[in-house]
Amino acid sequence: MQPTALLNVMIGAARKAGRRLARDFGEVENLQVSKKGPGDFVTAADHRSEQIIFDELSAARPGYGFLMEERGAVEGTDKSHRWIVDPLDGTTNFLHGLPQFAVSIALERDGAIHAGVVYDVAKDEMYWAERNKGAYVGDRRLRVSARTQFESAVIATGFPFLGRPGQARFLKELFEVMPHSAGVRRFGAASLDLAWVAAGKFDAFWERNLGPWDVAAGSILVREAGGFLADLDGSGDPVFTGNIAAGNEPILAQLRDRLKAAQG
Ligand code: IPD
Ligand code: CA
Ligand code: CA
Repeated sequence: MQPTALLNVMIGAARKAGRRLARDFGEVENLQVSKKGPGDFVTAADHRSEQIIFDELSAARPGYGFLMEERGAVEGTDKSHRWIVDPLDGTTNFLHGLPQFAVSIALERDGAIHAGVVYDVAKDEMYWAERNKGAYVGDRRLRVSARTQFESAVIATGFPFLGRPGQARFLKELFEVMPHSAGVRRFGAASLDLAWVAAGKFDAFWERNLGPWDVAAGSILVREAGGFLADLDGSGDPVFTGNIAAGNEPILAQLRDRLKAAQG
């Protein structure tokens, strides 16, 4: 399956931003040992990536709105289309020279996520999906894993760090999941965690307090790969509540039961 014209626009923007991030990542590694550290440089790299994506998408589809992590909401004249963008997902990894970060771009059409790309810059892997057309990495079709037993499942998560709420609650949840699964992983880029659920590497994923830019593109990858998503606390759209669980159907159901048990 070849990406559609729409996806080619998204892939092109992600690749262009990613190329710049890859160059900047090399510089970050040098700055690690400098007195000032790489902090300001990484903030600038994040904004540069966002600017590239904004310019590319605005030129290709004038009038579409934006929801971008750094600049926030930008109203468009076309009220049914909105890009949801994280120009650098995995900033802490990037800052520390850890090669797990991504560019994430989704297109929302009439309130539903219609297409998404997640670009793993360090590995040069492009994940893409469009509604009813399947999910792919490069030209390979993606399927969620076929595992059914929680004991053999590897579960990805993201836990709160400095200044983030919910640390005690997370530990309770971890205590429910950790001893019953084959392993829990925290890689530090939510968009890639979801891409890896779509690719069948992770059997499920959960995290709280995420933004739509973290998960919008990943959500359609998971769905189009045959997986499911759920809001951890109710029946809202997890892309917008930010409390998300995703996985293949049987492991997701078991994960949700375990996380519920953690609340009791
Ligand atoms: C973060 C990453 C991380 C998740 C954080 C996010 P950022 O995004 O996705 O995995 O645990 O909650 O904020 O800040 O690197 O774009
Ligand atoms: Ca993010
Ligand atoms: Ca970000």
